[in-house]
Amino acid sequence: MPSEDGKIRYGVVGGGSISQGAFMPGVGQTRNSTLTALVTGDPDKADRLATLYGIKAYRYEDYDRLLKSGEIDAVYVATPNFRHLEFVLPALEAGIHVLLEKPMATNETDCHTMIEAANRTGSKLMIAYRLHSEPGTLEIIERVRAGEFGEPRLFTSTFTQTVKLSNHRTQHGFSAGPVPDMGPYPLNMVRQLFAAEPIEVSAVGVKTPGRDIGTWDTVTVSLRFPDERLAQFTVSYSLPDSERFQLIGSEGEVEASPCFGYGEGVGIAYRAHLQEESRRVTHPVVDQFAGETAYFSDCILNNEVPEADGQEGWRDVRVVAAIERALQTGHPQVLEPLPARRGPQPGQARQFPLAKVPEMIDTEMPTE
Ligand SMILES: NC(=O)c1ccc[n+]([C@@H]2O[C@H](COP(=O)([O-])OP(=O)(O)OC[C@H]3O[C@@H](n4cnc5c(N)ncnc54)[C@H](OP(=O)(O)O)[C@@H]3O)[C@@H](O)[C@H]2O)c1
Repeated sequence: MPSEDGKIRYGVVGGGSISQGAFMPGVGQTRNSTLTALVTGDPDKADRLATLYGIKAYRYEDYDRLLKSGEIDAVYVATPNFRHLEFVLPALEAGIHVLLEKPMATNETDCHTMIEAANRTGSKLMIAYRLHSEPGTLEIIERVRAGEFGEPRLFTSTFTQTVKLSNHRTQHGFSAGPVPDMGPYPLNMVRQLFAAEPIEVSAVGVKTPGRDIGTWDTVTVSLRFPDERLAQFTVSYSLPDSERFQLIGSEGEVEASPCFGYGEGVGIAYRAHLQEESRRVTHPVVDQFAGETAYFSDCILNNEVPEADGQEGWRDVRVVAAIERALQTGHPQVLEPLPARRGPQPGQARQFPLAKVPEMIDTEMPTE
């Protein structure tokens, strides 16, 4: 039951950097979504964000009350990964739709629990893969799918940043480290570009001296795909910002950068090399959080299954779990072959101008 003006009403769970710095301002750019509540453990944020956005604030202890209040149709869950399940499950059970930040969970069991709950209750669950509604990304995927670069055979990618040692990402071992946090970007991208699922995983990780993170802070992953195709990506919490991928096909090549980020100045861009010709394509900066939210709200309003559903989130989490086993054992891990999914479609593209982001309250960016 959307608001009187037909908009899907969102409650935000966790008032951290992504909520304050991207999602909450982004909702205001859409025409079909509105913010009505925030769940936070910080009384100062509760007061000030509620005033700023004209919404109601709830404590985590009052979450069930919010779910039953009739004030929201959906929640956006943006807590640390290890707390995703505890907010997703009661929402689905209460008939509230869930837009859940990636990675879906810290383990496959939690993913299956969420998928089962969504199937049983009919509440919609979408994983917040914002690039699945970003026009430039969808254009690259479509061109590769159409065979413009021949058969996609090799994917390489680097995605690095310097995470502050004070952030929770550095305090919960592998499950909060760079592989589950940043790995889903190259991993999800290659799954779309190859239109296939990996069948074997190897990984090498290092612990950079002076960076006390309690897990491998820089990890290189190799993936074997069906038909003798390879992918490799490196993610890091201990290097300056960098993001790119390269896809080499039998008849051409795509080099993309920026390709995973969002916000001010980040318009998805790529160079397409075909025969003798090389052309750079730059897409305008869009509000990716507005885009994914508008798409999810359309799915709710039109009663359609969102594309990046729980199965999609689990397929990345199962590879992340295999990467952890590969790092622990030093041995390649075999994955059960799975049929390809349909993947994101051009109709999911949404284009909104970037929202102005207010100054953050009691929150700092996770990166230096
Ligand atoms: N899609 C993207 O581009 C993107 C980018 C960054 C992060 N993310 C995802 O979004 C989620 C949140 O990341 P973030 O960067 O926003 O993290 P963050 O800045 O640390 O914020 C997380 C918030 O969760 C709440 N929280 C509840 N229990 C907590 C606990 N035990 N420890 C710390 N915080 C707790 C806090 O909000 P209150 O103070 O309000 O209670 C905190 O501010 C993660 O799943 C992450 O992977 C996605």
